[in-house]
Amino acid sequence: MNDKQLVAIEAAKLATNGMLIGLGTGSTANYFIEALAERQAKEGLNIQTVASSTISAIKAQNCGLALVTISQIKQLDLYVDGADEITPKLSLLKGRGQDLVMEKLLATAAKQFVVVADKSKLVSRIGEKFVIPIEVMPNAWQMVKQQLEKHGASGDIRLNAGQDNVAISAQGNYVLDMTFSASLNDKALNDLLNSIPGIVEHGVFYGLARQVLIADKGQIEVMSL
Ligand code: 5RP
Repeated sequence: MNDKQLVAIEAAKLATNGMLIGLGTGSTANYFIEALAERQAKEGLNIQTVASSTISAIKAQNCGLALVTISQIKQLDLYVDGADEITPKLSLLKGRGQDLVMEKLLATAAKQFVVVADKSKLVSRIGEKFVIPIEVMPNAWQMVKQQLEKHGASGDIRLNAGQDNVAISAQGNYVLDMTFSASLNDKALNDLLNSIPGIVEHGVFYGLARQVLIADKGQIEVMSL
């Protein structure tokens, strides 16, 4: 069993009967979906789920989990998702998979948001290893890019996998992948990105995570605030 699977199985132990559980997106979240399905099959765990992406909804459906749509719910009991970067103060970078809006909605609406990752995701600052994904209104992408460049950012519009067109997010928007100065801390970055018109959502999850489960070589460490 690899570390991502180990930590996902640990998170699935948090599920109890009657819960509405949010399903993240990515390889670690996929292991979580499988672990929930296994508990449902073996223990008769009675839960409903809501997916942060179409790909996770398909995975959940194939695993036999009951799904509700985001439009049917006001809050959820538990949301479990992976992350691309995690700082010591539990700021996160997410959204490689272009489902920023759904992921942040579910993380915000959850009574408990638990992040699951292996040790490779630990960083000292947001943006250390990855560009910051910024979902923008299609008509506004050049204006937003210009605003970001005024704040010292560099980067460009994301292209699709074939590199022959722009990438489209699940919400029908474009994505800018930008790099910022290392002197901009997580809060300043979050405030800046929240302040620019035309930005629909961005991958900086500031002040949202309270609990992170990290697996390293078969051991699980809990980071919490
Ligand atoms: C997708 C995400 C993922 O949670 C993040 O990319 C981590 O993925 P993985 O579990 O495959 O390492 O934010 O938008």
